[in-house]
Amino acid sequence: MKPRHSSRTRRALGHLEGPVVTQGREDIAQRLATIMGGDMDESMARAHVHGFHAYPARMHPTLARRAIELLCPKHGVVLDPFCGSGTVLVESRLAARHGFGTDLNPLAVLLARLKSRSASAQQLQKLLSTAEKTVRHADSRRREKRGATQRYGTEDVQCFEPHVLLELDGLRDGIKQVHDEFVADALRLVLSSILVKVSKQSADTSSVLVPRRLAAGFTISLFAKKTEELAHRLDSFRRMLPPHAPIATVVQGDARRREGVSEASVHLVLSSPPYAGTYDYLEHHRLRLRWLGLPMDGLMQDEIGARRHAAPMSFSDALRRYYDDLSQVLAATAAKLVSGGMMAWLVADSVIGTRPVWAESLVRRCAERTALTWLASASQRRPHFHGPSQRAFAKQPRQEHIVVLGKP
Ligand SMILES: C[S@@+](CC[C@H](N)C(=O)[O-])C[C@H]1O[C@@H](n2cnc3c(N)ncnc32)[C@H](O)[C@@H]1O
Repeated sequence: MKPRHSSRTRRALGHLEGPVVTQGREDIAQRLATIMGGDMDESMARAHVHGFHAYPARMHPTLARRAIELLCPKHGVVLDPFCGSGTVLVESRLAARHGFGTDLNPLAVLLARLKSRSASAQQLQKLLSTAEKTVRHADSRRREKRGATQRYGTEDVQCFEPHVLLELDGLRDGIKQVHDEFVADALRLVLSSILVKVSKQSADTSSVLVPRRLAAGFTISLFAKKTEELAHRLDSFRRMLPPHAPIATVVQGDARRREGVSEASVHLVLSSPPYAGTYDYLEHHRLRLRWLGLPMDGLMQDEIGARRHAAPMSFSDALRRYYDDLSQVLAATAAKLVSGGMMAWLVADSVIGTRPVWAESLVRRCAERTALTWLASASQRRPHFHGPSQRAFAKQPRQEHIVVLGKP
């Protein structure tokens, strides 16, 4: 199979953001300058499995790859406790490192598992033939005007045109009849990848509804097209893996807890934690979690940095909560590092309410509460796109940072 997805070259953001400023231990600072500076080819963010499914605040694959190669010994173990859509795990495998990921979001876990596995050619054939059956099933229900297989609540009735809702219902009903776990999960994620596109939701990270006119049958054919695209993406990824590439393991879990990975087994922790008060992963994924029948209670209670948790609090209470959460994460992940191992946290300055949160100094203060030592940091300017809180960065510009901590 040849890759079908386009690999258009886009602007390299690295040059637009100005110089990378480093501090700390010279040998590590130099590596950080290489990791963060230099061109970041935007097409890489959409290459092979990386481009399959939207996910808020993904790490750039090039940055992840450079960090793994420069900070983790060959054949070592990389842990991403906030693995999201699995960027670090995919790049760990490509760099011949064993990747281990956890995330609280069950959608992230499904997605990271699918993207970081190497499906065989037979499995991909099975995926394609099962998708054909699912499409036939949904299309015959549509043509025979069979109606929905269940009652839908107001959220779905408002979010989709009636004929789109029926087509999605037919697809989901077809997927329910699939028993092969890999194929069923892949098809559920294909459905997830088209949900927002065929809904009236204006964007992936917005709940604003706008009119959307789609032709009859469009949703079903988009599903068929996206499944073919996924098979090609998975196939390209498998072909790129080095011989005997170690596997990646993904489990659902709270990054503040010590469960999951064995103690003292990890060489590099590489992760981008949720920003303070910026995103709301539960809200962004509510539609998808509902359609995939995935539980929401973990995210509802334990999501770190969620805007909805910070919104009713004073700035200092919200900041303290974030600081306590991140300190717990550092302590839990420190236990998993081998001695001499490193952590590289990719963080960005953010806003709670209207006031800035300076991420680099925050991570360093959290580290002081643990046995970790700060080794080096790199920082580079990043634009702030949220209009109402622009003033927070009027005096000091917003930056993204890599903060490296070590376990003595
Ligand atoms: C910035 S995103 C990570 C994105 C990821 N690097 C990627 O490339 O897709 C932060 C992640 O933290 C997860 N998260 C939030 N609170 C968590 C917690 N308490 N434990 C584990 N994961 C959590 C969110 O579900 C989200 O996937």
